[in-house]
Amino acid sequence: MTDANLTLHDFTALLASFEAEAAPAMTGAASADALDAVRATYLGRAHGWLKDLSAKLGQLEKADRGAAGKAFNEVRLRVEAALEARRTELSPRREAGTLADPSMPARRSWVGAVHPVSQVLDEMIEIFRELGFTIALGPEVETPWYNFGALNFPPDHPAMDLHDTLYISDDAVLRTHTSPVQVRTLQAWAPPIRVLIPGNVHRRDPFDASHAPTFAQVEGLVVDEGITFADLKATLTHFAKRFFGATKTRFRPSYFPFTEPSAEMDVLCGVCDGSGCGVCKQSGWIEILGSGLVHPSVLESAGVDSEKYTGWAFGMGPGRTAMARHGIPDIRILYDSDVRFLSQFAR
Ligand code: PHE
Repeated sequence: MTDANLTLHDFTALLASFEAEAAPAMTGAASADALDAVRATYLGRAHGWLKDLSAKLGQLEKADRGAAGKAFNEVRLRVEAALEARRTELSPRREAGTLADPSMPARRSWVGAVHPVSQVLDEMIEIFRELGFTIALGPEVETPWYNFGALNFPPDHPAMDLHDTLYISDDAVLRTHTSPVQVRTLQAWAPPIRVLIPGNVHRRDPFDASHAPTFAQVEGLVVDEGITFADLKATLTHFAKRFFGATKTRFRPSYFPFTEPSAEMDVLCGVCDGSGCGVCKQSGWIEILGSGLVHPSVLESAGVDSEKYTGWAFGMGPGRTAMARHGIPDIRILYDSDVRFLSQFAR
């Protein structure tokens, strides 16, 4: 009643002899190339032995095809597993590891480096930590009140312009400096306060050799009874000596809405010792920070009694500091993640 010309018994025998030959051939392949050839012989989709066997399934009695197909698949899986196991053993990594070729050079291991900006930050934090400062952090998405209003910016100050500040909505900005964390810290803690505030800030600047739209700042804040400008000067001068090995520092009058009086601090250029060079743009000095006595209205905004307490604050850019320290001419190099650049800073 059928034109079948192959019995299930014969087919099973064919499968068994296929497996008995194919599996040891896989395991015995001496190289990846040899393994490829063995694979083509037994498992090749076009002319392989397994392909011939699958064609034979059609010559079986219909009633036998289910059992035959199941046996066929089990054998196929076992032979494929033997192939994969051998492929893993022969993979190049494995060959090097097992000294298949002892003349092969050892793989070079890459050691990570701390990013130069992070190195600068770590050192700054360490110096202030020794002076009793702790770390405070705040959000990068701020309200305009924390970023500007509480810091005594007048309502029409140009910094608040869409041109300079990235607004997320009418009441959310990407903070343009770390100073809003002064206010948050004063709200959260009672004086005496000595904190260092590292973090990223954002400005609507074009990404060019001297501007990045996102960059790091470190803020410092000290508030207590009886704090004067002398504390500011002494502490920042100590920092400059420690950090830059600065032989000379100077303070220049400046202006920030949230400090009064305000001053910028320069250190004598360590590259030319003040005679003028490319790093200090021929001025002999390098500007390192902005600072000043905390404006009484900032203290009041944060709910601190400005009759009782006074304080000082400063803001610094570790990116610019890293550039000055290493003579890096273009700020974009700091953000390119180019390993050839970064690997120079491995310690
Ligand atoms: N926030 C100022 C800036 O971004 C820096 C600063 C901080 C100045 C604290 C004085 C006091 O330029």
